[in-house]
Amino acid sequence: MRRQSVLGGGAGWWWRGGGAVAWWGAVVLAHLVTPGRAGLLETNPGLAYNFYQTSCPSAEATVKSITWQMVAANPALAGRLLRLHFHDCFVQGCDASILLDTPASQNEKSAPPNGSVGGYEVIDAIKTKLEATCPGVVSCADIVALAARDAVSYQFQASLWQVETGRRDGSSSLASNAGALPSFSAGFAGLLASFAAQGLNVTDLVALSGAHTIGKASCSSVTPRLYAGNATSVDPLLDSTLAAVLINKCPNNASSSSATVDLDGNTPLKFDGVYYTNLINKRGLLASDAALMQNAAAAAIVNDLTNPIKFYAAFAMSMKKMGRVNVLTAKNGKGKIRAQCRAP
Ligand code: HEM
Ligand SMILES: *[C@@H]1O[C@H](CO)[C@@H](O)[C@H](O)[C@H]1NC(C)=O
Ligand SMILES: *[C@@H]1O[C@H](CO)[C@@H](O)[C@H](O)[C@H]1NC(C)=O
Ligand SMILES: *[C@@H]1O[C@H](CO)[C@@H](O)[C@H](O)[C@H]1NC(C)=O
Ligand SMILES: *[C@@H]1O[C@H](CO)[C@@H](O)[C@H](O)[C@H]1NC(C)=O
Repeated sequence: MRRQSVLGGGAGWWWRGGGAVAWWGAVVLAHLVTPGRAGLLETNPGLAYNFYQTSCPSAEATVKSITWQMVAANPALAGRLLRLHFHDCFVQGCDASILLDTPASQNEKSAPPNGSVGGYEVIDAIKTKLEATCPGVVSCADIVALAARDAVSYQFQASLWQVETGRRDGSSSLASNAGALPSFSAGFAGLLASFAAQGLNVTDLVALSGAHTIGKASCSSVTPRLYAGNATSVDPLLDSTLAAVLINKCPNNASSSSATVDLDGNTPLKFDGVYYTNLINKRGLLASDAALMQNAAAAAIVNDLTNPIKFYAAFAMSMKKMGRVNVLTAKNGKGKIRAQCRAP
């Protein structure tokens, strides 16, 4: 049913702004959007596909239409919304705690690493619309998960992965919990440990890092790889041609602190898996990206995921796992549906 509507609605497959027709995209997407593929994960905390089918039938269509509209106007929102879901899930579970404005200045969103996290205005617009049509039904945490998928999927004009729903919202947000987020300067062991703490393995680490095939980073996330104090000192794991470009864009002084650079300098807006080829060519932007090539098992997965068909499948599966991290659901009797996403 859904498969039909996705294919029926997808009037051709293309990369916006690109031109190359990704014929394999149709094949992969048609496969991925088939709901209820069994046996993916052993335990289910109480989520389901189309959780709102009867309680708010328009929910997913509303999220999609508002997200697509806003991403069409501002393509940078795709990266922001994808990152928002990641930051939500890694800090006390996918419970929309990252959206809370309270307690002021001690909430998750005020805690580093918070550079370039955003898209809150998209969530607000969706929530306002859904509260008007289905008051008290659709959780902020589900809106975040759906909007991340729809924002990335806009360029395909179809859904790139299936999203389970049925999350409820938490009521607390603490900056001190943001330490669960991995650092851009983490080495492989540190990255793996932070993923393992969420029940995610090396396959998930490599697949989800593929999110860095879109979006931007602040110069401050990169300059440690370019300079040591006042001297230029390029990380040996960074390609020297890319280093020269970055040194130009992120000069070694305060003027560069608010500048940004593309995470994937080759195809910055395309969700295409070129990220993995970049890694092999020492052109991953962050130290944490380069770290994936420093472990044999991870590097083997990187090689595998240079094939976009494999990347999309792996990304879909790992997003599903990440979307289950510490969720509050009716099944476990926790959480609530917040009336406003910014307030408990
Ligand atoms: C593996 C550990 C990870 C680390 C250390 C990491 C770190 C970072 C850093 C430092 C930035 C740039 C922030 C800035 O300087 O403004 C960034 C951006 C981004 N990250 Fe990650 N990240 C990781 C994993 C993930 C995952 C799992 C996802 C989503 C599934 C994700 C999605 C994104 C996106 C989309 C951006 C671009 C944001 C934008 O354009 O606004 N990252 N990440
Ligand atoms: C990010 O964290 C820093 C340090 O706590 C804080 O000063 C800044 O205001 C935060 N940024 C946002 C957008 O909340
Ligand atoms: C990671 O977990 C998934 C299932 O959740 C599994 O298919 C995959 O093989 C695991 N990866 C490793 C390296 O164990
Ligand atoms: C960098 O240069 C400034 C000005 O010359 C100096 O005050 C500062 O100590 C230097 N920092 C380092 C890490 O060398
Ligand atoms: C920062 O460095 C760049 C490149 O070296 C230079 O053009 C610029 O004037 C510097 N800005 C400040 C505020 O020092």
